[in-house]
Amino acid sequence: MNKEDYNVIVRYIFDVCGIVLGDDKEYLVEHRLKPILDELGCGSFSDLTRKLNSGTVNFLMREKIINAMTTNETSFFRDEHPYVVFREKIMPDMFERVRQRKERSYQRRGAKVRMWSVAASTGQEPYSMAMTIADEVNTKGMGLVVLEDFGILGTDISTKVLAKAVEGAYEPFDVARGLTPEALDRYFIKEKDFYVIKDNIRKIVEFKAFNILEPFENIGSFDVIFCRNILIYFTDEVKRKILAQLFQMLAPNGYLLLGSTENMYGLNDDFKIEWFGTTTVYRKPT
Ligand SMILES: C[S@@+](CC[C@H](N)C(=O)[O-])C[C@H]1O[C@@H](n2cnc3c(N)ncnc32)[C@H](O)[C@@H]1O
Repeated sequence: MNKEDYNVIVRYIFDVCGIVLGDDKEYLVEHRLKPILDELGCGSFSDLTRKLNSGTVNFLMREKIINAMTTNETSFFRDEHPYVVFREKIMPDMFERVRQRKERSYQRRGAKVRMWSVAASTGQEPYSMAMTIADEVNTKGMGLVVLEDFGILGTDISTKVLAKAVEGAYEPFDVARGLTPEALDRYFIKEKDFYVIKDNIRKIVEFKAFNILEPFENIGSFDVIFCRNILIYFTDEVKRKILAQLFQMLAPNGYLLLGSTENMYGLNDDFKIEWFGTTTVYRKPT
């Protein structure tokens, strides 16, 4: 791939998914796109560049490029400490919200606490949230707060990872990272070589393709948002726009968690910041 081709491809990736690829990522782009050139109907990178320049890249080709170019690294209970905060600080508040909303409405509709895993990748993040909720409901719900009082939306731009998330079937390597043997027993069924998420966990998680660069208005509002390990790929300008929209989507006093290496310093002043050990939680003031 020559420099010109590289620049066109990098520009395209930036335009469609906001991901910034510096001059040192030539090898990465080549490594990820070369295997799909055939599928894209291109004999070479110059062919691809021509198609990108002439605007003849259709939806399917776009999808294949996104699927190949996104980095989908994730694991169950990634970084551990955010999930401790989720369990110990956020969940008691969510229980209270369920109770208050049920009191306020005779019908159960509208009582749900909604959570969003913005970059769900292959599903480990939303399923870790759901497992934590299930643990809390089982030990403290006393039949008054039930699993169905919660709904988690997992979104990602990559349809490839979402398909795996929906399937909820993981290899031994995936479940060896982040899960205790007890959690594995409680929330997975072993089917041949895979560990499959049990239905009670699966039924409170739904997945949807969503590009975070697009307007958020049809997504709804959320009590808790996990937007972890995605902002790192974007420019400050894109980060600012996303954070401003996340602020809008968050319910009053709601919680936003970013990745361990991410923060909103210099990007947004609207959130109230709370620290719990090494975990920073961003809240929407009432
Ligand atoms: C490194 S993974 C993070 C997964 C998970 N949140 C975690 O912390 O383990 C980043 C995810 O962001 C997704 N992504 C990248 N650009 C995106 C965009 N513009 N809109 C939505 N998702 C995007 C990628 O497909 C990838 O699955």
